[in-house]
Amino acid sequence: MATLRELMPGSRLPRFESRMLWQHVLQVPRSWLIAHDDKPISPEAQQAYVQLESRRLAGEPMAYLLGYREFMGHRFDVSPSVLIPRPETELLVETAVQLIRDIPSPAVLDLGTGSGAIAVSIALANPDAQVVATDVSLAALKVAQGNARRLGAAVQFAQGSWYQALPPGKVFDVIVSNPPYIPKIDPHLAQGDLRFEPAIALTDGDDGLAAYRHIVSGASAHLHDGGALYFEHGWDQAPAVCELLQQAGFRQVRSLPDLAGILRVSGGHL
Ligand SMILES: C[S@@+](CC[C@H](N)C(=O)[O-])C[C@H]1O[C@@H](n2cnc3c(N)ncnc32)[C@H](O)[C@@H]1O
Repeated sequence: MATLRELMPGSRLPRFESRMLWQHVLQVPRSWLIAHDDKPISPEAQQAYVQLESRRLAGEPMAYLLGYREFMGHRFDVSPSVLIPRPETELLVETAVQLIRDIPSPAVLDLGTGSGAIAVSIALANPDAQVVATDVSLAALKVAQGNARRLGAAVQFAQGSWYQALPPGKVFDVIVSNPPYIPKIDPHLAQGDLRFEPAIALTDGDDGLAAYRHIVSGASAHLHDGGALYFEHGWDQAPAVCELLQQAGFRQVRSLPDLAGILRVSGGHL
């Protein structure tokens, strides 16, 4: 039987990806691979690796092959039913955590929760928060519920289109959302990782601003006086999202840059 030392150089993947897939197949930490690269690898494990390798070579995202992605220092399970959490989304979580810092038992709503990355991270950062997370996709909600349970986050989940998921009269201190914002004509939808992610998580099937219009227009019925609404949006959407917020009567409207300096999060207070 071949050893890892013999098998790894033959991989057509970059070395770090090959290593991560071997770790996944053998269910071992990285240190094991280094210390035991002379151990014979079973034909079953070799076959499992080859299958993952060919899926990766066909472009499937590593997160779907491994079944998880790190976000805010937590491991979130992912499946092809959910968007893979992006590092830039941590800015929306950090902003929400700041906004609720001085509110006792703050009520927080995450619209379009996907894997639950935003809602679960907020609940873990502020265990006093009453966090509600919604999605139109039942399959996504199942993944999010699993993440909340495994990570020990108290989040209430509800299924439905935007505010329709909520019981009547429910109001919040802070609403956050990272809705689908890629315009339907954007060629990136047919490229790279996006080909494998759920279309409903990526595009509004319109100009990229449809979800913002809907969420902004319904916000006053679901926010306390002085409550805040904050969004993540695309690299060029900050002016349009700010305009929507201002037109709806939001004050202190501002946009915040991500680590790359791109205005990525916009919001304001009612
Ligand atoms: C860009 S993904 C964000 C997922 C997650 N919040 C994150 O940041 O990683 C958008 C999410 O909105 C959900 N969604 C799309 N249309 C929706 C609707 N009409 N009502 C509620 N959720 C919707 C999708 O299923 C998807 O989970």
